[in-house]
Amino acid sequence: MERKYWQDTVIYQIYLRSFNDSNGDGIGDIQGVIEKLDYLETLGAETLWLSPHYDSPMDDNGYDISNHWKVSPDYGTIDDFKALLEKAHARGMYVITDLVLNHTSDEHPWFEAAKDPNHPDHEKYHDYYIWHKGKIDEHGHKQAPTRWRSWFGGSVWTYNEATDEYYLHIFSKKMPDLNWRNKSMQEDLKAMIQWWVDLGVDGFRIDAANHLEKNWDFPDGHPGYENFSSLPKHHEYLEMLGKELFTPNNLMTIGESGGASKEEALQYAGFDSNEFDMLIQFEHCWVDTDDSNTLTPGKWAKGEVDVPAIKQSFAKWNEILKGKGWNVIYWHNHDQPRIVSHYGDDSPQYWEKSAKMLAFSLYMLPGTPIVYYGEEIGMTNVDYKHLEDFKDVEVFTEYKNFMENGADHETAMKALRDRSRDNARSPMQWNASPYAGFSNTTPWMPVNGNFETLNVALQQNSDTSILSTYKTLLALREEEALAHGDLTFHDLDDPNNFVYETTGKHFDFLVVANFKKDPATFDRALLEGYTLFMHNQETSDASKNTLEAYEARIYRKAK
Ligand code: GLC
Ligand code: CA
Repeated sequence: MERKYWQDTVIYQIYLRSFNDSNGDGIGDIQGVIEKLDYLETLGAETLWLSPHYDSPMDDNGYDISNHWKVSPDYGTIDDFKALLEKAHARGMYVITDLVLNHTSDEHPWFEAAKDPNHPDHEKYHDYYIWHKGKIDEHGHKQAPTRWRSWFGGSVWTYNEATDEYYLHIFSKKMPDLNWRNKSMQEDLKAMIQWWVDLGVDGFRIDAANHLEKNWDFPDGHPGYENFSSLPKHHEYLEMLGKELFTPNNLMTIGESGGASKEEALQYAGFDSNEFDMLIQFEHCWVDTDDSNTLTPGKWAKGEVDVPAIKQSFAKWNEILKGKGWNVIYWHNHDQPRIVSHYGDDSPQYWEKSAKMLAFSLYMLPGTPIVYYGEEIGMTNVDYKHLEDFKDVEVFTEYKNFMENGADHETAMKALRDRSRDNARSPMQWNASPYAGFSNTTPWMPVNGNFETLNVALQQNSDTSILSTYKTLLALREEEALAHGDLTFHDLDDPNNFVYETTGKHFDFLVVANFKKDPATFDRALLEGYTLFMHNQETSDASKNTLEAYEARIYRKAK
């Protein structure tokens, strides 16, 4: 396999709405990203992944697209977008955007025609979406065709009176699913993709990629996820896009397929696959749920971090893709809690130390890394006190579910502060000025209350900060070509430690970390020949094979 440019890049994910507001309307925007290009370049970010920038009523912050050919006025204009491409390219940076192919907004002209039998284009567009007649129950009442449950809670079906049908939406009811069996729809989306490529976009992160196909027999079931997830035919659609668009245009593509299996990995992201270059599968992302919790069940219940599960997942995906495909490494994105609150410890005592421990543990691994905005300064989960502070569409359906399960308000609020997607979406904390330097007016969602002590400005001039740890690690990745390292994990079953060796260009490296507050140990024999290179604790004794709370060290050995 020849080496591809995207193997050695560092991706930085920008949640546009929350990164930097350039025009004082409280909403992050494209000019705001341009203002921060110096910052991003200094950090070591080489590829910027922008969350959806398209026109949208923002039910799901832009994943609900109402016009694929237009930049949301919240974020700027097409000229702003072109300026970003030009300025990023001038620095040798790439820009990839989110590509949302599973659904549109219900305010998209296609859906407006689809739902209205009197619309002149109704016939053409009706079949762009997925419709089904209701069922009549024994009392003569109309019911949704199946009991399938949406990813955001609630039914996947919403009734449309004008056609006397239900439409399918596996996310919010403002996000009707597209019918990928419709060829004309496929052609329209392909033309749209080519249009952005011609404008200069370097690639895409393909949203919700494994949901494109549905079970058209519509069997009943609850929650019924198997009827709209990872059905074999979705690979055909992706392969078509790969062959016709991604490969010929030399794009960088990352596909999102939550829960992808080992068997599918090479189909998605094998070197000879035509689907994606890289796969995001989230296996390590929720390994701390408390399955006994019935008030706020599933991902909403925080339990102990299952450290072996993280190690085993990293080792497994490295092994599956080794020599056959390419891996991406990431802690989280805009759909999970902040990593330091999730797998670290955001208490004042351990916040900085555990954030560095998490950085050591991830960023020495082979593969292409994705840094999520704010992660590099150790941003934490939100501290919101009121339900109205939250903005995510998912929060409100789930809050209702918690109440129905018998939770009280405080229990529900705690689940939201621990687990909701909004944790990762609060405004970037640039400095200690009002609104954290994100904006000069009240932001679209509240700034985290800790911004005065947790911000870029404070960390920028310190060489022991979390930010400088990230800079050092990202620079080291490049110097040592760590993306191509040969990885060996140790102690895969140990409940606390996180230990691996990997190879660089000039050195071999040993990473030892403790994910817990209790001390951890590792095999002393591993230290043979290694000298201490980085640590997150001043008192580190390099010769010791015990690690204190959240302690982490990186050793190296010349080749
Ligand atoms: C993906 C996105 C998520 C979005 C969903 C629907 O999972 O990451 O933020 O809500 O798709 O587009
Ligand atoms: Ca703005």
